[in-house]
Amino acid sequence: MNILVTGAAGFIGSHFVRTLLSGGYPGHEDDRVTVVDKLTYAGTRNNLPRHHPRLTFVHGDICDTTLLEKVFPGQEAVVHFAAESHVDRSVAGAEAFVRTNVLGTQALLEAALRHGTGVFVQVSTDETYGSIAEGRWTEDEPLLPNSPYAASKAAADLIARSYWRTHGLDVRVTRCANNYGPGQHPEKLVPLFVTRLLDGRPVPLYGDGSNLREWLHVDDHCRAVRLVLDGGRPGEVYNVGGGTHMTNREMTGRLLDLCGAGWDLVRRVEDRKGHDFRYAVDDSKIRRELGYAPRRSLEDGLRETVEWYAAHRGHWDAREEDSEAGY
Ligand code: NAD
Ligand code: DAU
Repeated sequence: MNILVTGAAGFIGSHFVRTLLSGGYPGHEDDRVTVVDKLTYAGTRNNLPRHHPRLTFVHGDICDTTLLEKVFPGQEAVVHFAAESHVDRSVAGAEAFVRTNVLGTQALLEAALRHGTGVFVQVSTDETYGSIAEGRWTEDEPLLPNSPYAASKAAADLIARSYWRTHGLDVRVTRCANNYGPGQHPEKLVPLFVTRLLDGRPVPLYGDGSNLREWLHVDDHCRAVRLVLDGGRPGEVYNVGGGTHMTNREMTGRLLDLCGAGWDLVRRVEDRKGHDFRYAVDDSKIRRELGYAPRRSLEDGLRETVEWYAAHRGHWDAREEDSEAGY
């Protein structure tokens, strides 16, 4: 199969592509992968192998319709990871989020339609549902996004759905919980805290640290995306969860322990504007229909993640370096 993967110089897309190329997804051992990535601040070529016989890397923007006309012919599936992904940046300025997440997704959908691409997996997020005080969201829940990031992803999901409903394009949407693992940009909570604590520097905990997140290893998320790619149904949404729920204070405590640091390095700082209190998805649909179940324990996954950051300190500084990047 020829697969177009967008945003695979970033955290999750690169994990998906590396796993696929290393034979980690049965039935995909012969797939040819074309990556389109703009290499924004969040993407690095170091997240992917420099040379691989089944990988073509295209440095480009998903909003560039001329470029898409060149890369789409012959593609049989799209797995769409590319996005502006950081909530705090969307609070500071939403334009890039609307451009890439909404217009970029629409450009890809249009190209997929024009070129008869078989399957389009829209990789989305639990944040599109908003914030939930108790209980869990099912896929039928209305979308009530709060941050500009989440709103742009919700808009993209609905446009994707419209291409299914109106044009019959085989679109499948995943909505996953918070990911952690190696290769995540050090702007997000886990890698920010780990990289700072390893250097003995202070970390900023927003508000009172009581906000709750569900943490899932990136490998479990990517396996779910692959299950949806292979067996999902057109027009359907699949929540992806099964991680570990905890407050940011609890996560901070775990990271302090793993990095050998103490609470004296934790700074309570002003809260994020519009900070969502809690996310929690009901993922029984993907478990029931596609046999999804997470495999990585938080204990092992977090320990390995800290070890990875300790061993790859220059990873994000070496954007232009011509190396195989430590994977
Ligand atoms: P990331 O920020 O690490 O990577 C995003 C990638 O997209 C980067 O390589 C960047 O260069 C690329 N990109 C950005 N704008 C582009 C454009 N206009 N054209 C081409 N490439 C562009 O993001 P991530 O954490 O790997 O998230 C991947 C996807 O998964 C996103 O769609 C995100 O919404 C979704 N998601 C993330 C999480 C999480 O916890 N990180 C959870 C659920 C869903
Ligand atoms: O739920 C899925 C989402 O998870 C994805 O769609 C997003 O792309 C991804 O960035 C993530 O969003 P969050 O806002 O939950 O992740 P972040 O790592 O930015 O923050 C996690 C929690 O930690 C959140 O409650 C805010 C808090 N936080 C974050 C940072 C960066 C802090 O307390 N201090 C910080 O410095």
